[in-house]
Amino acid sequence: MTLQTLRDVASLRDAVAGWRAAGESVALVPTMGALHAGHLALVARALVLADRVVTSIFVNPTQFAPTEDLARYPRDEAGDAALLDAAGCDVLYAPTVAEMYPPGFCTAITPAGPALGLEADFRPTMFGGVALVCTKLFTQCGPDVAVFGEKDFQQVQVVRQVVADLDLPLRIDTVPTVREADGLAMSSRNRYLSPAQRALAPALFQVLRAVADGTPAAEAPAMLLAAGFDSVDYVAVRDGVVLGAARLGGVRLIDNLAC
Ligand code: PAF
Repeated sequence: MTLQTLRDVASLRDAVAGWRAAGESVALVPTMGALHAGHLALVARALVLADRVVTSIFVNPTQFAPTEDLARYPRDEAGDAALLDAAGCDVLYAPTVAEMYPPGFCTAITPAGPALGLEADFRPTMFGGVALVCTKLFTQCGPDVAVFGEKDFQQVQVVRQVVADLDLPLRIDTVPTVREADGLAMSSRNRYLSPAQRALAPALFQVLRAVADGTPAAEAPAMLLAAGFDSVDYVAVRDGVVLGAARLGGVRLIDNLAC
């Protein structure tokens, strides 16, 4: 295995400084692990954009509400490392919670603008936590570019706003959503789905497709409930994109499509 696994800021900075001394550029792929083909598409894009690629795996506690799935979020570092190694990633940065949030840590970031509404109405702690952890990862690694998936469309807008507002010296690049053959957007949380739920799940993509093709967004919740979803958080069109979030039992799925 040529992949190096690093767990602290100092060794990450040493590795990046070595690359910089050799004139090499660096891309960062922030993830929470449980990697799938969607993440590997981000790594592939990062390898095109830069000489060296760091993938971070950190299940970030500050973006989970106490009622959410932090404890049971899927973790498989050995499997993830094998995938990253085969993909050609240089460094897996997997810091501990204590490294990221040591005792006494007390700084927060409160994003507004694109961080208001939609996901934030249902997950009010999420974007503050994402803004905080991404800002830390960016300043720890110092990449030229960071690569995110378009599946988390609102998250990408929030990260772009934070980078602009805080004058962080990197570019944000995005990769289209990778889907299963039946249209379901790949997500680490798909592994929570029972076989019956998995069979119903592509209806989210199909209903968003219908809205993108002209069905009024107001009709989408009834369509999702009729397709077997238990509840619908929202389906809305913003800036030429239809976004939706709906629940199958305890599993919350999100997706979006250009329209
Ligand atoms: O999209 C994710 O996996 C997470 O929100 C991110 C960007 C890695 C921050 O923890």
